Amino acid sequence: AGRTQGVFGVGNPRAEWMVIGEAPGAEEDRRGEPFVGRAGHLLDAMLRAIGLSRAENVYIANVLKSRPPHNRDPRPEEVGACLPYLRRQIELVRPRLLLAVGRIAAQNLLGTEQSLSRLRGRVHRFGELNTPLVVTYHPAYLLRNPADKRKAWEDLKFARSVFRQLTAESEDGHRS
Ligand code: URA
Repeated sequence: AGRTQGVFGVGNPRAEWMVIGEAPGAEEDRRGEPFVGRAGHLLDAMLRAIGLSRAENVYIANVLKSRPPHNRDPRPEEVGACLPYLRRQIELVRPRLLLAVGRIAAQNLLGTEQSLSRLRGRVHRFGELNTPLVVTYHPAYLLRNPADKRKAWEDLKFARSVFRQLTAESEDGHRS
């Protein structure tokens, strides 16, 4: 009820990477686009560090399509209301790899209460398409805890290596 507008998603609908965050913040609510505030600038830099650009190679969306009042954590019923939209976005974009940024996105996508530190560093699977999913820190968290940027860089390199492996496997598949 308190939102200015829904914030659906942005980027290349044929992207091979899909980034999933938590929910729009104030700036996103104003502009109708995910990750355009301070956290968004850091996300862009994180993506650039592994050779990705939001305009070309990535589709970006959130678990919630509306900004929660005062940026509080999403409630289960809000996640329940929005998740079908996200599932459909994933089905339509059909990314090769999902990158979940932050605990809220990771826990809700994976249906777990495990901590982010336990979810990092391995390949999970999401949904009917069994899409590979890798977890890293939320850029807003990294702005508050810059010492963890080093671990986020490890995650990004891990995600890039998983992506390369998936690409190589599918090319082998086409050849044989
Ligand atoms: N944080 C998120 O999780 N998503 C946004 O779109 C902006 C900030």
